[in-house]
Parts: sequence; C-alpha cells; structure tokens
Amino acid sequence: MKQFFLIITALALVMISGGRVSKDIIPGAIWPDNKGVHINAHGGGILFHKGKYYWFGEHKVEGEKGNQAWVGVHCYSSKNLTNWKDEGIALEVITGDPGHAITEGCILERPKVIYNRKTKKFVMWFHLELKDRGYDAARSGVATSDRITGPYTFMKSFRPNAGHWPLNVKDIHQQPVGDQVKDKYCGGKGCLPGHPDTVNLLGRDFQGGQMARDQNLFVDDDGKAYHIYSSEENSTLHISLLTEDYLSESGKYIRVFPGRYMEAPAIFKYQGNYFLIASDCTGWDPNAARLARAPDIFGPWEELGNPCIGTDAELTFHSQSTFVLPVQGKKDAFIFLADRWNPKNAIDGRYVWLPVQFDENGIPLLKWMDRWNLNFFSKK
Ligand code: DGJ
Repeated sequence: MKQFFLIITALALVMISGGRVSKDIIPGAIWPDNKGVHINAHGGGILFHKGKYYWFGEHKVEGEKGNQAWVGVHCYSSKNLTNWKDEGIALEVITGDPGHAITEGCILERPKVIYNRKTKKFVMWFHLELKDRGYDAARSGVATSDRITGPYTFMKSFRPNAGHWPLNVKDIHQQPVGDQVKDKYCGGKGCLPGHPDTVNLLGRDFQGGQMARDQNLFVDDDGKAYHIYSSEENSTLHISLLTEDYLSESGKYIRVFPGRYMEAPAIFKYQGNYFLIASDCTGWDPNAARLARAPDIFGPWEELGNPCIGTDAELTFHSQSTFVLPVQGKKDAFIFLADRWNPKNAIDGRYVWLPVQFDENGIPLLKWMDRWNLNFFSKK
C-alpha cells in the first residue's frame, strides 16, 4: 500500500512538472517554473547573488511576433538551478511612446546582468535594435537597478567605442573608407564586398561607434568587466573593457577573429585561460559551435574547433550558445547554456544546458546528455 502511494506521488510530481523530474536538467524539454509555465528567458544569462542564481532573458510572445520585444526582460530565481521561481519582468519595454529606444516592438536580445560592488548597482546590457529598422541599428542598451530582480531603469543606448581605435588597429582602418561600404548596412554574412581587413568597416563606424549585435558580459577575478559583441556587420568580434562603474565602454578594446562571423559569444575562465564559445552566423538556424582560448582576455586568441561531440555536434545539438555559468561552490564546474530557437513560435524556444567537460589537456568538450543533474560535478 505504502509503495502504491509513493508511485502515485511520484507520478503526480512528474505530471505537475510537465514530465520533468525536478532535480534533473533535461536539455530541450519544456521547463516549467514554480507556476508550471515554461520558462520565458531566452538568449539569457545568469548572475549568482547572495545564495541564489538569477536567470535573465528575453521574454518572448507567441508566433513570429515573438521575435520582437513586447514585454521586456524576464527574471527567475533558483537555489539549485533546476527549480525556478518567476520573479517577473525586470526591465519592461516602454508602451505609449513610439519614439523611445526600447518602445514595444523593438528588438531586445541577449540581456546580461552583472553586479558592481563599488556602486552596489545591478547593471544590465543588451543588444538593441530600434523598432522597424530590422537589424540596422546594432546598438547596445544599458539599464540599472538597486535590486537584482528590478525594476531596471533604462539609461541609454549607443554604438560602442565611438572615437576609439582598437588596441590592434590595422593601417587599413585609418585609410579613407571605400564607397563599397560607406553608408551601407547589410545585415551579416555574405553581404560584404571583401574581408573586413580589406574593406574599412571599422573606419566607417569610427565616429558614430561600432556596430554591436550578439553580445555578452564577462567579469574577471579582478572585478574588471568586459563587453563582447559581434561587430563590423557581424564579421568580427570586439572585446571591450568597461568603465569601473560598468555603465560605459572604457575605449580600450580589441578586434578578434576578423572575417569569422562569430555570434552568440560566451567567455569563461578555467585554470588561468580564457575560453570563448561562440557560433557561426546563420540567423535562427543552428550551426557548429566554435571554441577559442587565450592566456589574456586581450589575446592572442586561438581557435580550437568545435567543442561538441556526438550526434548533431555540427548543429550544437540544435542550439546556439548564450552563456557559460560557473557553478557556485564547485571548483572548475561550468554549465554551457544555449537556446534552441523557434522563430515561428518564439515563446516555444527551448533551453539546452550541458555540463562543460574537459579533456586530458584541459580543453572544454560538450557532450549531449538526455538528462543530467548537478551530481555530475561531484563525480569528477
Ligand atoms: C542569431 C542571433 O544569435 C540571435 O540572437 C538573433 O539575433 C538571430 N540571429 C536573429 O536572426
């Protein structure tokens, strides 16, 4: 009889959680929050603060309309990374003011939040595209709050590093800008008349600021924070030091992987090396992930190929990177966070989370797992 009740209770739990056994992470499955609703935090990132993880991501609505922002940035909290409490909308888009930078219907992607110990402010950066302009604006947005869950106040949006050359600027960039790229904004891979080291996009955008689309933040052990963004028509990543208050670019930055069209960048640090996981540039369609390593965040960066192994490794298991999360209290334990986009019904995008494994040379690997939990890191 007792066993019968145990089985019934277990079945009920599985049903309530939409098939998810609460302690497990099931990549690609519906992931219900504390209210039983699929988590709505796409292109997200996670901040650990005072004993809890906070997950921030794009709140998507149903259908293709969900590829624009109609609500804002959603926040969830969790102590164990599997059960998530809905904390509401941390940053709301603006209604009733069509001219506002984050008016409803803009594109607001890949929000990331970091905490500034000196100012005691939570600082959110995101990729912003102005309403009805496709992906032409290529701006960065900044919002802040005194409380981690918000509400966040929108501060400004801009194109980074206006008037600053990167540390590794080339001669070509300080030459006149050719007509092929002048005043032309073309949206990505295949649209440039040449390699970004032969057509002067950096020079074109020197005064107005560099294009910034897919983006992420990384806070180093010394408290310095960096903004990593896809620039120069997505052809080249920039890694840029932020000011001490994390609210602006410092003007010190480098160009990396020119002409490699990397999107979805996520940086983490393991055994003194900086690792980057990013993707190729193929719209919402998945492609092969890319891994790179550097002894210093400002390089030199070396590409190390695709870190994924096994079936569908060439498609990053049908997902695209968004963040690498260091697991608190566990040494050298990291989780790779990725999105399985569904652009036809954006709200139904899924989350692919996998533990980062390391080979005998300390090179990160990603292997598919149908289901796993944090005990994975205790077995190492
Ligand atoms: C790929 C990017 O990684 C996403 O964040 C989004 O901008 C899509 N492209 C749009 O096509």
